[in-house]
Amino acid sequence: MTDTTIAKLSDFVGEEVRLSGWLYNKRSGGKIKFLQVRDGTGTVQAVMVKNELPEEVFALYGELTQESSLIVTGLVREEPRSPSGYEMSVTGIEPVQIADPYPITKKEHGVEFLHNNRHLWLRSSRQYAIMHIRNQVIWAIREFFYNRDFVLIDSPLLTGSIGEEASTLFETEYFKLGKAYLAQTGQLYIEAACMSLRNVFCFGPTFRAEKSLTRRHLTEFWMIEAEMAYCDNEGNMKNQEEMLSHVAQSVVKNCRSHLETLERDISKLEGITPPFPRLDYGEAIKILQEKGSDVKWGDDLGAEDETILSNMHDKPVFIVNYPKHAKAFYMKENPDNPETVLCSDLLGPEGYGEIIGGSQREDDHDKLLARIREEKLPEKAYDWYLDLRKYGSVPHSGYGLGIERTVTWMCGIHHIREAIPFPRLMTRLTP
Ligand code: 4AD
Ligand code: MG
Repeated sequence: MTDTTIAKLSDFVGEEVRLSGWLYNKRSGGKIKFLQVRDGTGTVQAVMVKNELPEEVFALYGELTQESSLIVTGLVREEPRSPSGYEMSVTGIEPVQIADPYPITKKEHGVEFLHNNRHLWLRSSRQYAIMHIRNQVIWAIREFFYNRDFVLIDSPLLTGSIGEEASTLFETEYFKLGKAYLAQTGQLYIEAACMSLRNVFCFGPTFRAEKSLTRRHLTEFWMIEAEMAYCDNEGNMKNQEEMLSHVAQSVVKNCRSHLETLERDISKLEGITPPFPRLDYGEAIKILQEKGSDVKWGDDLGAEDETILSNMHDKPVFIVNYPKHAKAFYMKENPDNPETVLCSDLLGPEGYGEIIGGSQREDDHDKLLARIREEKLPEKAYDWYLDLRKYGSVPHSGYGLGIERTVTWMCGIHHIREAIPFPRLMTRLTP
């Protein structure tokens, strides 16, 4: 007898095979019983017929509880009415473990309850689909960068310099060296690496002590960051729109059934192709004010402002050249308007908000030092970063894409906490 998986059943029509999995659900039709068996590759209906099975095997139906683990043997049949196209006529069942009464049932559960049971909730069909799409997003991003000969550079997670904002740092004591911070970004390190390897990227968890509970913020999230030497902010945006379009098309192509599970409008993703519209920050402020927002020139855009701008387009939209003081210290001053910097935020469509933040970096030593002083950052910690502007400084640009924000958008789900296996929020550290 062959051991196989549900995903491969089409190779075994008319044959008897053995599957190892879990009982997702069951239903009785008197002398016929139906088991919904899942094995991590799919779900199949296994049919038990009373007069075709030894009595003790048929009696197992009563014992098998939801999520019991089991080995099922049976004959594979084509079944056009089943979603997978196949069904199994059971010839034998071997329980592995009879599960305790399962906390997650078919009835509606509250969000908090489900998150408290995240370790079990991951088995539900919706979470299964989201995790597959997350996997595809990450796969497609790596594929994009490797196809273009970018080199992966792993940046440290314990750092001595502040990458983004002092207000959202997680600190820890670090031996006799004082405070270490959990990385908010790998950018500063890959800026160093791009002067050696030209086009580089890093991919890892990043940490921000965000004191707000929104549907877009995690305290630990995964970020892909790219950095390119001899690249200006135009080239940077071009790379972003090509990368994100590749991701969307890869998800559409490889995750159709998962998108259907989530009832995602796939046409919305099919339309994600370059180029993306660009909107100057100043223009954006005017539009927002006309629509009744009280945002002023100089402010960073709030979540509501982003939602308004993002709802105006079917594609992601770049908001370019923000005011210097609304953005991080490392962004390059705009030669055409020194009050602004050469940067872009990419807002996802359908109200999903900022997906990517990117900029050309300040490559002038003195201007960068002035910004570090202006922001009252600990100068000493940036010695090495300033060195990059002393030894062969060149124009360079890069960006960071939040994986969970991208997954939330691809999946068309409401809240970012479902886009990561075990979310970390201000109010959640378990499971
Ligand atoms: O705009 P941010 O802060 O940019 C940086 O960190 C730069 N150093 C990136 C770079 O240029 N290399 O963050 C980048 C992206 C955001 O656009 C968003 O998608 C995501 O990271 N992000 C978060 N995702 C979830 N929870 C949070 N608290 C996030 N903060 C940022
Ligand atoms: Mg940003």
